[in-house]
Amino acid sequence: MSGYKNFAVAGAGTIGLPIVEELLKAKAAGTVAKVVVLTRSATGKDALAEKGAEPIVVDYDSPTSLQSALKGIDIVISTLNVFGLDAQSQLADAAKAAGVKLFVPSEFGGDTVNFPEGFNAPKAAQRERLTAIGIPWALFPTGPFADWIWFVPYIGFDLVNGKFEVAGTGNSPVTFTSRKDIARYVVHVLTSLPPSKLENHVFKVEGQRISVKGVAEEYEKRTGKKIEITSVPLEVVKDQAAKNPGDFKSWFALYLELHGTVGKKEEVNVDWPELNPESVVDAILSYKS
Ligand SMILES: NC(=O)c1ccc[n+]([C@@H]2O[C@H](COP(=O)([O-])OP(=O)(O)OC[C@H]3O[C@@H](n4cnc5c(N)ncnc54)[C@H](OP(=O)(O)O)[C@@H]3O)[C@@H](O)[C@H]2O)c1
Repeated sequence: MSGYKNFAVAGAGTIGLPIVEELLKAKAAGTVAKVVVLTRSATGKDALAEKGAEPIVVDYDSPTSLQSALKGIDIVISTLNVFGLDAQSQLADAAKAAGVKLFVPSEFGGDTVNFPEGFNAPKAAQRERLTAIGIPWALFPTGPFADWIWFVPYIGFDLVNGKFEVAGTGNSPVTFTSRKDIARYVVHVLTSLPPSKLENHVFKVEGQRISVKGVAEEYEKRTGKKIEITSVPLEVVKDQAAKNPGDFKSWFALYLELHGTVGKKEEVNVDWPELNPESVVDAILSYKS
């Protein structure tokens, strides 16, 4: 047991909500005592409160508001999105001031330690900032969400209409993990490892290692539905990404083709080999928005 029982999750959205739900299961089982959800608005948080979470409305621009919400909290898990990076910095400062023991920054994607460039740069900068202010952190690289990315046409995956777009071959191995398995891994690790093993440690999670084309083939076999894959030449996508750092679709396509895994196979799920994750296609078939 880590001894850490009091959690605050900032922003219960795409990945935050499954993490809160997993923490609430741990609370019901007695391994977690408190699950605070930091939010900018109380609207829509009744269901979480009914399940045992404590939604607290905060003003990310107010250190007093944040420090008061974080009183007695051991671990802050930030699941703020890219628009909340300044808010995350303010949250980290408040966590340090409030005596929080561990800060989990909003990562939940690629390996930002070994690939700190491109769309990973802001996350790498956030990690460096945590080190600079002196609050211990723990990172969770997960790869793309196995149940989610296929339903996001603006990043090149439109499963509803049977269309994928890839940079280059689409044959490179990629780490995918479903939101459910990410939440299970995060909560297991944070409630079971001692502080010395949590602090400034990178926890790589992997549901399945498979290429985008491999996912399409398995999906076609399972469902009988066809997926049309458009391959854009790698050099064209590289050029688009270089010209526009904000071109998320191009950066993401390059990530999948060039740096798709979170690390070597022996580096993933190390702290919970019993994770028993679902496959990408199982995750797709159980997708909920
Ligand atoms: N690997 C993948 O496939 C993948 C996919 C999606 C996201 N991610 C990563 O997961 C992390 C969380 O992303 P997400 O999609 O889960 O986030 P999200 O659902 O878009 O937002 C999470 C919460 O952040 C709060 N928020 C939004 N804008 C904010 C702002 N300007 N200031 C303060 N709070 C704000 C909102 O909570 P309140 O309104 O309650 O305050 C929102 O519910 C990010 O690091 C993202 O890169 C990874």
